[in-house]
Amino acid sequence: MSTEPVDYETVDERVLVVGAGAAGARTAIELVDRGVDPEDVLVIGKRSHGDAHTTWARGGINGALGTLDPEDDWTIHAADTLNEGGHINDPGKVETVTRRMPGLLRELDEWGMDFSRTDDGDIAQRYFGAQSFRRTAFAGDYTGEALLDTLVEQAQARSIPYRENVIVSRLVADGGRVLGAVGTDLDTGEFVVFDADVVVLAAGGYTGLYGRHSSRDDENTGDGPALAYQAGAALADMEFVQFHPTGMVGDRYGDDWDGRLVTEAVRGEGGRLFNSEGERFMEHYSPDQMELDARDVVARAIAQEIDEGRGTENGGVYLDISHRDRGFIRERLPRMYERFADLGVDMAEEPVEVSPTAHYGMGGVVVDDDGETDVDGLYAVGETMAGVHGANRLGGNSLAETIAYGAVAGEAIAERLPDRGGDSDVLHDRSRVHLRDLQALSDADGDEAPEALLDELRALLWERTGILRDDDGLAAGLERLERLRSRAADLAVGDRTSRSYEFALDLGFGLRVADAVLRGARERTESRGAHYRTDHPDVDPEWQRNVHYRRDSVGTPRLTTTPVEEPSEPVQAALDAEHELDYHQLE
Ligand code: FUM
Repeated sequence: MSTEPVDYETVDERVLVVGAGAAGARTAIELVDRGVDPEDVLVIGKRSHGDAHTTWARGGINGALGTLDPEDDWTIHAADTLNEGGHINDPGKVETVTRRMPGLLRELDEWGMDFSRTDDGDIAQRYFGAQSFRRTAFAGDYTGEALLDTLVEQAQARSIPYRENVIVSRLVADGGRVLGAVGTDLDTGEFVVFDADVVVLAAGGYTGLYGRHSSRDDENTGDGPALAYQAGAALADMEFVQFHPTGMVGDRYGDDWDGRLVTEAVRGEGGRLFNSEGERFMEHYSPDQMELDARDVVARAIAQEIDEGRGTENGGVYLDISHRDRGFIRERLPRMYERFADLGVDMAEEPVEVSPTAHYGMGGVVVDDDGETDVDGLYAVGETMAGVHGANRLGGNSLAETIAYGAVAGEAIAERLPDRGGDSDVLHDRSRVHLRDLQALSDADGDEAPEALLDELRALLWERTGILRDDDGLAAGLERLERLRSRAADLAVGDRTSRSYEFALDLGFGLRVADAVLRGARERTESRGAHYRTDHPDVDPEWQRNVHYRRDSVGTPRLTTTPVEEPSEPVQAALDAEHELDYHQLE
């Protein structure tokens, strides 16, 4: 390899936030509100400012405000979260999110977020799956957009600097402490070394690595977990991937729409699922909770209907809300109504076609109660972190986590920041080694196109770690992954502003994350939440443990398991009370 000097820009920051979605923005806001100078903070994103993946979150954000159901409180929210998560969530983190959310929703309201309202002007809340009460606050069906708009406005009001279109490909750590990060400016192709005392990974999840998924294609490619792993942090629960029951069906609406979300709010507002024989099939699978049972239950039910030949000719089932009047649908589900109208479908008159789609990675980076990994100074927040959702996530809890853990991490970092300070020589020496690798990558003229390999990786994960898994399929998946890995050593990559360069970096993240998902899924010989093993179809109480994945001293990934802690007394009392949504009261 060349030892020629590599040019790069150096950016000095005290706190570097990698990811410009809700979690990153909320962290930066908290830092500044706790006294950190905005000039010491930099938020960087792979995409344009204000266009992070958060904007695709639709149906709502949870917090036990009790505006419509005064019996609700944070302990019941925590109990619902643990029940949905198959009791392998970290109860402390669940408690942190659920306790804080009512106050954080009120704060967003004060900041001007465009919440939908009750008749008396309070924040409205809707039903979402597997929640005992109406606790999902929302802005029509564009809650993520409204949330990010509000946070970006607040960040601007605090003069928090952002930098767009930068991809981070390496974190630099030494002696268990983070020193900074190495990135490429995708507009200019320039390399950038960020010298930072603290790095916060707010870089999303990994379901963009699935063949059928609800994200945009170049997002959620596992950057956060892969970067953290490489820096020496542990990952956990990577085998738990949520399949949202209702993604758009590509054969009906076109490839560009394949897998994109039809928000759970359609069911929360009364939408019903039918098979091609006109049967409301959830009556067989979940007679009490019907379409609003947990996402894994509804997704498996839809998959079974389709497998057994009761799907539509396009490979989906019907989701119908046409019994509600047009005005109601337009008010509660404006984006869905418009999107389907553009595709020639009138939701007020006819059903839409849906089938499950990869939507959320419950796994991620292991962090402590403040969001810090065991690499000193390295934090992870939002979908990048593990622990809150366990084996399955409640709809509406992802936006909640971004806000709650953004605030928690921001507060903790602001308290500790004055004591820190890193070694710049080590940072630059190590960065140069990685920059030479990046330069070689952008000059690579092998035989394999990165985008094509990424597509093959997506097909592999969808086929082998989809809704149903078994040992033979997982073993075959690992072998296929090895073959992909050797082909990835022979890439043809364009210059550093090309899409193929970005795809090549995404492929590197994806190969690491796929290994963690496949190995975790193989290790976990039971079924729990979103992880369903046809060869081990039951929950095994011995498996009330988290699977950790981390590199050992020679760089080989190792799996270990750790037991889950007990919930606190008030949350245990809420669990004992066995609250449950009675769906039929809605009809
Ligand atoms: O269906 C939805 O609107 C998704 C929400 C969520 O995953 O939290």
